[in-house]
Amino acid sequence: MMVHIPGVLSREQVAQMRRQLDESDWVDGRASVGAQGAQVKRNRQLAEGSPLAMELGNAVSAALMANPLFFSSVLPLRILAPYFNSYGGGEHYGLHVDGAIRAQRPGMPALRADVSTTVFLSDPDEYEGGELVVVDAYGTHEVKLPAGDAIVYPSGSVHQVLPVTRGERIASFLWTQSMVRDDLKRAMLFELDTHIQALRGAHGESDATVGLTGHYHNLLRMWAEV
Ligand code: NI
Repeated sequence: MMVHIPGVLSREQVAQMRRQLDESDWVDGRASVGAQGAQVKRNRQLAEGSPLAMELGNAVSAALMANPLFFSSVLPLRILAPYFNSYGGGEHYGLHVDGAIRAQRPGMPALRADVSTTVFLSDPDEYEGGELVVVDAYGTHEVKLPAGDAIVYPSGSVHQVLPVTRGERIASFLWTQSMVRDDLKRAMLFELDTHIQALRGAHGESDATVGLTGHYHNLLRMWAEV
């Protein structure tokens, strides 16, 4: 399931982050990948664990966790500290899959990558190319969103970032372990929750919305690992 989450960050938050990122040092993006990724990844990223990566990463995580659409579609259990990456001058990240298990900072448990999230920090008119291309059971999807918007997609999908042929594509990226491992089950819960919210919005609380909310939670009880 892929979900577009608009306005995760405000225009002001994006502008502030961009100012800080413009003054920062970028390192080779291959620092954070395994052997398969290293063959196809050509970009730059903020050094993992640097004070700026931590500060901005906390702001991105907090904005996502406060976003009802992110919560409902991802059902996050643990979020890995966000990365920040930059593509320009033909840089790209060829077809790859994200590794299933990610080490966290020392002392923290490892995380199973169920859901990948990209938060765009450049607007589409700032660069040429740079589409995130995700292949899933329903076909191939090209994604390029306004700065501040996010896309979530299954970490198990094959995906790539096409070469950036003009300008700079700045984005934040992170993995989440979901309470519900299976993408289809997560999608079903998301759909059910979306319809319950729509019913409640249109008609207020009723016996039906209470009953359906109970059904939602019973499914979550059955499927969630916490
Ligand atoms: Ni990836």
